[in-house]
Amino acid sequence: MMEITLVLENESKEPLYLQLYKYFKQEIQSGRIETGVMLPSKRKLSLHLGVSQNTVETAYQQLLAEGYVDSRPRKGIFVKEIHSDLILTSNEILTPTKRIPKRDSDICLVDFSHGKIALDHFPFTHWRRLTIQSLFEDESSFFLNGEYQGEYHLREEIARYLYQSRGVRCSTEQVIIGAGTQYLIGFLTMIIGREAIFSMEDPGYHRTREAFKDQGVNLIPISLDDEGMNMKQLYASNAQITYVTPSHQFPMGMVMPITRRLELLKWAGEEENRFIIEDDYDGEFRYKGKPIPSLQGLDPNGKVIYLGTFSKSLIPSIRINYIVLPKILLAKYNEHFTLYKQTVSRLHQHTLWLFMREGHWERHLNKMRTVYRKRQQSLISSIKKNMGDQVTIIGDDSGLHILLRVYNAMSEKELIAKAQKYQVKVYPTSVYFEDSCSNHVPMILLGFGGLTESEIDQGILLLKKAWNLS
Ligand SMILES: Cc1ncc(COP(=O)(O)O)c(C=O)c1O
Repeated sequence: MMEITLVLENESKEPLYLQLYKYFKQEIQSGRIETGVMLPSKRKLSLHLGVSQNTVETAYQQLLAEGYVDSRPRKGIFVKEIHSDLILTSNEILTPTKRIPKRDSDICLVDFSHGKIALDHFPFTHWRRLTIQSLFEDESSFFLNGEYQGEYHLREEIARYLYQSRGVRCSTEQVIIGAGTQYLIGFLTMIIGREAIFSMEDPGYHRTREAFKDQGVNLIPISLDDEGMNMKQLYASNAQITYVTPSHQFPMGMVMPITRRLELLKWAGEEENRFIIEDDYDGEFRYKGKPIPSLQGLDPNGKVIYLGTFSKSLIPSIRINYIVLPKILLAKYNEHFTLYKQTVSRLHQHTLWLFMREGHWERHLNKMRTVYRKRQQSLISSIKKNMGDQVTIIGDDSGLHILLRVYNAMSEKELIAKAQKYQVKVYPTSVYFEDSCSNHVPMILLGFGGLTESEIDQGILLLKKAWNLS
């Protein structure tokens, strides 16, 4: 018999049959008792719970009447597939073990999410082979904890790659691996010290903002001008730490020119306790102009904390990120923070190391640069062809998303809702502003990394209709 964890309260004013009926109803609604499962026979359940068969019979009758179960002659009582209007959303049952089915409004033909990547180009065969090879190479040690900073060989490869492709100058010892940007932001905040005054770009990456805020730090938003972070505001803020995305400002998409980079570095160099956090989340994908070295690579004074991720360049689910700590902060890390164990699986780290060592990483990146360049070109030419001067494209120098300003008098909310009607998912930019409610010019974020060129074209044609563009 299925496990019945109900304890009936004999003293309760609520009749026993009602308690039993409510129990089954909740279990069915939450998916803990699944469609097609047979309920215990009246005799067995009455014995199990120490109640009369009549009590069970009445509870089952109620479930039958409300459509939760079906009675099959000479077989028993079975749970029916329940309609969404029978699913309650009260707190009591918000612990489903079963996924709630997608509503029609969730279904979409084209999803311009900026979190998606070109999975159709992910080298599954190599990755699978290297994962298996990793498992067999050193069977026993992989099941024990690894180095707290991350596997040495992988950090070595990362340091080499960063120097060659991003101009980052660091030793293997300065690289610390961790699972996710937000985790590393939290970790960094502890290393730096929560008493420091922090600042970040506004608009900026909302997940970083929340990670800082959840650490309880004083976080000052600094607005942007055409070149990136507004230096006057940064000076006026008295901040000691600032977070920037110079290779591809998130979400506005501008690339910080060298002059502004040097101004930022000058700011950091003026006080001992000032540091810049450089989030280089998709700096690998640059489509226009000459590559500009990372801030870290331009910095002679050890004032930049470089933050990198494999989420865009490889796969987001692998959760391998890293920070490159300047020497002063590395000393602080070594004093206390080596107590924190590594958060990324050794198996994934080892697989990634093999992947890099065998040259697949470099080949993959080169291939992806071409794939994303083509996707971005398709997006831009489709927008230009179909939407003309009724829109402005923003931030198309690099990265896996662009912004679109749409001149049809619709608000951001309306633009998203109309697109949804045509089963196209587009994304807001207001959420990236510290004050998301104020009257910003509506801008829509379109990610293209996970869409093929024909899906992009289909999406833009649907958006043209949805937004009544001629
Ligand atoms: C600014 C910024 N940083 C980092 C990331 C990646 O975060 P993670 O590495 O935790 O997946 C993103 C992803 O969209 C981003 O927009």
